[in-house]
Amino acid sequence: MTGITKACIIGASGKLGRYMVQHALDRGYEVVGVCRPESVDKLAELAERITIVPGRTNDREVIGRALRGCDGVLTVLAPWGMDHYASGTAQAVLDLAEPGARLVFSCGWHITRDGQDVYTRRLRWFVRIFGFIARLLRVVDLDDQVEACDRIFRSHTRWTVVRGSDLEEGESQGLPVWSRHVGDPVLASNLCRRVDFALFMVDALTNDALVHEAPAIVGRQTESARRHAAASSPLASPARAD
Ligand SMILES: NC(=O)c1ccc[n+]([C@@H]2O[C@H](COP(=O)([O-])OP(=O)(O)OC[C@H]3O[C@@H](n4cnc5c(N)ncnc54)[C@H](OP(=O)(O)O)[C@@H]3O)[C@@H](O)[C@H]2O)c1
Repeated sequence: MTGITKACIIGASGKLGRYMVQHALDRGYEVVGVCRPESVDKLAELAERITIVPGRTNDREVIGRALRGCDGVLTVLAPWGMDHYASGTAQAVLDLAEPGARLVFSCGWHITRDGQDVYTRRLRWFVRIFGFIARLLRVVDLDDQVEACDRIFRSHTRWTVVRGSDLEEGESQGLPVWSRHVGDPVLASNLCRRVDFALFMVDALTNDALVHEAPAIVGRQTESARRHAAASSPLASPARAD
């Protein structure tokens, strides 16, 4: 386990980002948050407890400044627009983080590291149709999130890419369960509380077993996770499902 003293949260003003800020503060980390200038107000309640660096997350000058002295970096990869926002954000973090820093990135189940994920027809169609329409309207470029993750997978930094299932709001159910491949039975419920997605991201900063892994996560109290827990040996790791 590696200790963390100063964590940077890139995309801090979003729903996932704000939960991550709270979890990081709960762990006693010094927190730096990067968010778009127009979203600074969304962090008003936390403003006295964190350092806010306003700017677009693919702006290398902003990211370089924010990452100074940070031994942990949590990045929300959001494929907004058609100007390579997600890959630009990922590349800036990979290039400008302190040497040896723990880097944890968020994305969805549609990202595959080794092509071994098995997707339901529903998810395949959703990604195809949503991706097509969003690209047509030029609001979201899912391919750029794929490019961002490919760059991360190829990098020699100490990265983890956390792949989130469908998300819902609600009270924490504890640390989500993870598996290497979408399609593994433990993940069948395809649901996680957003607050727990954030918990997993922050917890990953100090979990060296997750370095160079792309865990797909599911809520700890979902039916598939409970079924798996009941069937597994008491010696099995509580947070790892495969
Ligand atoms: N939503 C889901 O069901 C789902 C499922 C699986 C995985 N995920 C993953 O979870 C992570 C967080 O997703 P979320 O849905 O929960 O959203 P979120 O936390 O609210 O994050 C959205 C991020 O995108 C930024 N953003 C919004 N509009 C933008 C724009 N036009 N240009 C640039 N940045 C913009 C937001 O910044 P501002 O605060 O400045 O608006 C925020 O940082 C993502 O990595 C996503 O791939 C989501």
